[in-house]
Amino acid sequence: MNYPFWNIPYLGSGWVIGIIAIFHMMIALFAVGGGLYLPLAERKAMRMTDPETRAAWLAQLVGYSKFFLILTGVFGTISGVGIWFAIGLTHPEATSTLIHNFVFGWAIEWVFFIVELSTAAVYYYTWNRIDPKLHLTVGWVYAGASFFTLAIINGILSFMLTPGDAWLAVAGTGHEAGKFWFALFNPTYWPSLFLRTCVCASLAGVWALISASRIDGDKQPALKTSLVKWSVKWLVPSFVAMPFLMIWYYRMVPASQRALLILGIDTINAGTFSIITRIALVIIVTSATIVGVAYYLAYRNPVEFNLSHALAVLLLALIATGSGEYAREMLRKPYVIGRWMYSNGVRVPYVDRINQEGYLAHSMWVWWNGRPTGFDMLTSPGDTDPLDRPYSYSRGEAIFRGECGSCHTLNGYRPLAQLLAGRDRANIGNFIVMLHENKPDSPYRRFMPPMVGTKQDIDDLTNYLNAQVNPPAPGSQKGVLTAQK
Ligand code: HEC
Repeated sequence: MNYPFWNIPYLGSGWVIGIIAIFHMMIALFAVGGGLYLPLAERKAMRMTDPETRAAWLAQLVGYSKFFLILTGVFGTISGVGIWFAIGLTHPEATSTLIHNFVFGWAIEWVFFIVELSTAAVYYYTWNRIDPKLHLTVGWVYAGASFFTLAIINGILSFMLTPGDAWLAVAGTGHEAGKFWFALFNPTYWPSLFLRTCVCASLAGVWALISASRIDGDKQPALKTSLVKWSVKWLVPSFVAMPFLMIWYYRMVPASQRALLILGIDTINAGTFSIITRIALVIIVTSATIVGVAYYLAYRNPVEFNLSHALAVLLLALIATGSGEYAREMLRKPYVIGRWMYSNGVRVPYVDRINQEGYLAHSMWVWWNGRPTGFDMLTSPGDTDPLDRPYSYSRGEAIFRGECGSCHTLNGYRPLAQLLAGRDRANIGNFIVMLHENKPDSPYRRFMPPMVGTKQDIDDLTNYLNAQVNPPAPGSQKGVLTAQK
């Protein structure tokens, strides 16, 4: 809580991470899958007896590896750095916790990144220039390095959902790093590693289909048939194993979080949790369509398979992958690090302390009258301080940004102005008090953190939200202020 809040109007800062991360994920998962695809395809080509088909396959792979190098080396790396910027700005507390725990993991990750990026470049630039066996070896080194980057980042991502009891037992003591391996190989590590590996393989197949679909089927029917058919096979592991892996994954998630999946039936009618159910449906429908298209249009009719078919498969695959990652994020609510840190950066064991000290007690960036403070700011918008400097934001706004802003905006994504519409001040106040009390039977505690702070904080937040939901008539506020002066 000692950091300024990053406010993104309408979209919400969470979506800034979301958009960059989904884009990055698609490329990164493809980088891993494509890393396996290339050496395997090259090996297959090298074993071909007919020199013409072999040369045609290899020529195809050269083109594929160029595309691969540009996509992963340029867009993958840039979006990866983008994630660092976005998470640092949006979730300083969580980012700090992750860095303190996993600095060693990230160091390993970066070593593998360097190996991955350099071998991808070497692989592309040495086609037909070095001994084919050595070239294939470079491909395998690439495949290994990129798989290890997945293996590590998977540990950190799954840690955020299920840190595991061993780590939670030492969390906050300063000895967390001693549980590094427990945290990395946390309860959802293996199922999510297998799940992601399947996704990697399918994405490699899908991108390869794009490249194969552009082969002229009239001129090179044999080449097109063999490449399309071989690429379709890359989709098979996903569709066979995925349902079982998902069940495994689901069983490793704590029961409290699992409940989120079946919520929606018993709470908010058009709410979030029917969203999870809807996302599950999207994944099932898109996957089933991919199976249909891949089998009937690609496998059965490889020569006719064209770019628009391939793009349709790609689009569906991206939707399915993106939805899967989004569902995982939803599943983690109300935490950013399971059972330890709420999405708004408040650590679970600090709740009582903040309730006593006040939410803004340590907010050094809230300045007023030349002093860092959280105590004597005016609360109505438009006020200026006695020196006539417009202040940046009121206490109520600071609390809104800090405690609610990671999941809500005022008027855009999950808009509080709309969600609270129709309530008067007293009613809004009661809602906040209910969030503050966070009783065990409150339906909200399954996806919203408690509102933390003192009675004063509750009042300030209520005033701020009330001013958004029930804006004072134009001019009236100014009148009050002038009257006060
Ligand atoms: C962990 C993310 C998260 C945080 C932090 C959060 N909320 Fe929510 N909130 C949600 C979700 C998810 C919903 C369900 C949204 C929907 O129905 O579309 C929700 C719903 C609501 C609703 C509508 C409730 C209803 O019954 O319709 C209100 C009001 C609300 N939140 C207020 C707040 C306030 C005030 C704060 C800050 C003190 C806050 N929320 C913090 C996730 C969060």
